[in-house]
Amino acid sequence: MYHELPVDAYTSWEWYHREQDRIFSRLWRYAGFAEDISEPGQYVSVQAGANNILIVMGRDHRLRAFHNICRHRGTQLLRATGKAQRAVTCPYHDWTYDLEGCLIAVPNAEREYPSGIDKSQLGLKAASVDIWRGMLFVHPDPPGRSPSLAEWFGAVDPHLGPVQPAELTEIPAQRTSMEVKANWKIIVENYVDVYHLSHLHSATLDMYDHAKAEYGWHGSHYAFWEPLVAMDGDRHDNGGRGGSGDHGVWVPMLFPGIGFATSDSEWSTYIITPLAPDLTRVESRTKRVSKSTWNSLWSEWPSTRGRSEGQKAKVGRKEAEGRDDPLASGNFVAEDNYVCEQQQKSMTSPFFEVGPAAQGESPVVNHQRVVLSFLK
Ligand code: FES
Ligand SMILES: [Fe+2]
Repeated sequence: MYHELPVDAYTSWEWYHREQDRIFSRLWRYAGFAEDISEPGQYVSVQAGANNILIVMGRDHRLRAFHNICRHRGTQLLRATGKAQRAVTCPYHDWTYDLEGCLIAVPNAEREYPSGIDKSQLGLKAASVDIWRGMLFVHPDPPGRSPSLAEWFGAVDPHLGPVQPAELTEIPAQRTSMEVKANWKIIVENYVDVYHLSHLHSATLDMYDHAKAEYGWHGSHYAFWEPLVAMDGDRHDNGGRGGSGDHGVWVPMLFPGIGFATSDSEWSTYIITPLAPDLTRVESRTKRVSKSTWNSLWSEWPSTRGRSEGQKAKVGRKEAEGRDDPLASGNFVAEDNYVCEQQQKSMTSPFFEVGPAAQGESPVVNHQRVVLSFLK
């Protein structure tokens, strides 16, 4: 099996712009958890490829999405997240829109537009917002013209484990955002690479039985599940929870760059956003069952203990290159980021050439095919 993308796909601005145009600007994009917007006026804005899209709750408690672009001269109206009072005012010339996107005020309209201005034609451009599994997604097309979100994720939905994120509570301390010096596809490819699990993470993810991993593609989306290594004292037949199959981890990667990691008690998101050919932002949030449920799971299922971060590392302290050597960190995310950045760096060498793909790398090659299918 051979890789299907040229080096250029990971290093050139031309590929970057094509992907922004054909993939990130045209598909449903994750925008947060549903509870991020829970009262009128509350909003979230998200960059989805070339489009900056805001979601705001109206006075009727309905969510609406708009292109975050003032209809006067295009200034971005709202930044990040927050609460607009009863209207959205552009910082440039104070044009003001209501929460339903209608232009309601143009300052000094008689003086500045002596022949009149038709406000009814200058409302915010509608985009789409929908909720799936307790998460917000946006699409640049207006409602009615955007494809169905439920259909887009429909085939992969049954393969994402039993947890509904809406039933869990966020752990704010586990919210992270990092920039990785690698192309977004390298990060996705590493995420779906089954081969590396027992090698790069030989010491950090050894609580999972990688040999029993089940994985595959459902349309453009990837699903992965693996069980915990059976430990003495586990009672996998107990509790009517559907057997040991429930006590593993689901690590799907939805297209484009929407990763989750979920067990029977947690739901984490890993949102991968390209910033440049060789730079990517990875944002993560984690939700967990309530403390009391967590405590009972903890005692009921000793194997869940294995899921807390191990102290072991790939490289011992003695061989470590300095105090910050990611391979000596005992942290699998640091290990992943390290190899992604190293791979990206090697791609600038004229001697770089990729070898044949292993069986456990078949998802890597398949992701390349999915990318190509959107660029045709
Ligand atoms: S650009 Fe928004 S009011 Fe002028
Ligand atoms: Fe990894």
